[in-house]
Amino acid sequence: MSAADVFRQRYGTEPAGLWAAPGRVNLIGEHTDYNEGYVLPFALPQRTIAAVGPAPAGEWTVCSTFADEPVSFGVTEPGEVSGWAGYVAGIVWSLRDAGFEVPGARIAIDSDVPLGSGLSSSAALESSVLTALIDLGGLDVPLERRPALAQRAENVYVGAPTGILDQSASIRCQEGRALFLDCRTYEIDQIPFDLAAEGLAILVINSNAPHQHVDGEYGARRKSCEEAAHILGVPALRDVTPDDLAEALAKLDDDVMRRRVRHIVTEDQRVLDTVELLRAGRTRDIGPLLTASHASMRDDFEITVPQVDIAVESALAAGAYGARMTGGGFGGCVLALIDTARADETVAAVEAAYAEATFTAPTCWIATAGPGATRL
Ligand code: GLA
Repeated sequence: MSAADVFRQRYGTEPAGLWAAPGRVNLIGEHTDYNEGYVLPFALPQRTIAAVGPAPAGEWTVCSTFADEPVSFGVTEPGEVSGWAGYVAGIVWSLRDAGFEVPGARIAIDSDVPLGSGLSSSAALESSVLTALIDLGGLDVPLERRPALAQRAENVYVGAPTGILDQSASIRCQEGRALFLDCRTYEIDQIPFDLAAEGLAILVINSNAPHQHVDGEYGARRKSCEEAAHILGVPALRDVTPDDLAEALAKLDDDVMRRRVRHIVTEDQRVLDTVELLRAGRTRDIGPLLTASHASMRDDFEITVPQVDIAVESALAAGAYGARMTGGGFGGCVLALIDTARADETVAAVEAAYAEATFTAPTCWIATAGPGATRL
């Protein structure tokens, strides 16, 4: 059933409109966002759709194709609504907290963004509802302000200490482009990213590995980065350049912290190098940067799991130009840059490696760069 069908069935009337917001794949730049560095995501064609209609002031109800019961709430404080509806209540809270007059609304949600796979299903939910409420209420919220409002819903209302990558991707990405975002200034550059024209493709391999310890480990990485920045006397690790790295590492006593810093500093540079190569039309040459990013996440940031490492190794052995885990880590998806003509062979190689390791089979598909959040 579509979001519009659920809306009609649940509320007995037509929605005022449909709004969509996508999941994302981050091409490169992992855990750099909360270090005020660089990221380069593109939006997936998979998206969350919110069918939305008006309700009395101060009343919100949300239902979805993946939950049995609707959830109703009024004006709430952070954390009051829990579970998936908390992301929706968080958006209402964040807009109101920023001084906007949020209209009451009835909302029905449907989504084909895989849940819990590191493809930002929660940001897609937040961004679809945010966009809908802004349009429905005629609120004057410029596009560049929206990701931070959605991020506050997640940070303050839901209580997840994430950066601004996912919401920026869901809201600001454009079809056929990768979004080069400076997470300090929120400046963006839309980088042409039409791989099909070059006979290339991004193969996404969902490891289907159960996410474990995600929240605690994510928070621990963030804390370690912030402590390191404090010790080094910089506002954020973004301010340490590759040229400063050796000197910075020498000032840190803790080996784990040194490796966390090395990942962030080298990863920021890899994003810059990737952008330069894409701008120069040298797409194949980004492969080694992707693979180096994976090694850095595996060895220095320590956020990979055997399932994603095997996906990277088997894709590379099958001829991929480069491959890396994408997203927060501890499971989730791998992306591989491949010749389109070799897609089937690459998938077969990864599946065979998984079978041999007796892992749950992966799910693979070719990802293209879709549009950001929009009214349909
Ligand atoms: C998750 C977070 C993002 C970002 C990535 C890692 O997706 O939500 O803010 O930190 O992990 O790059």
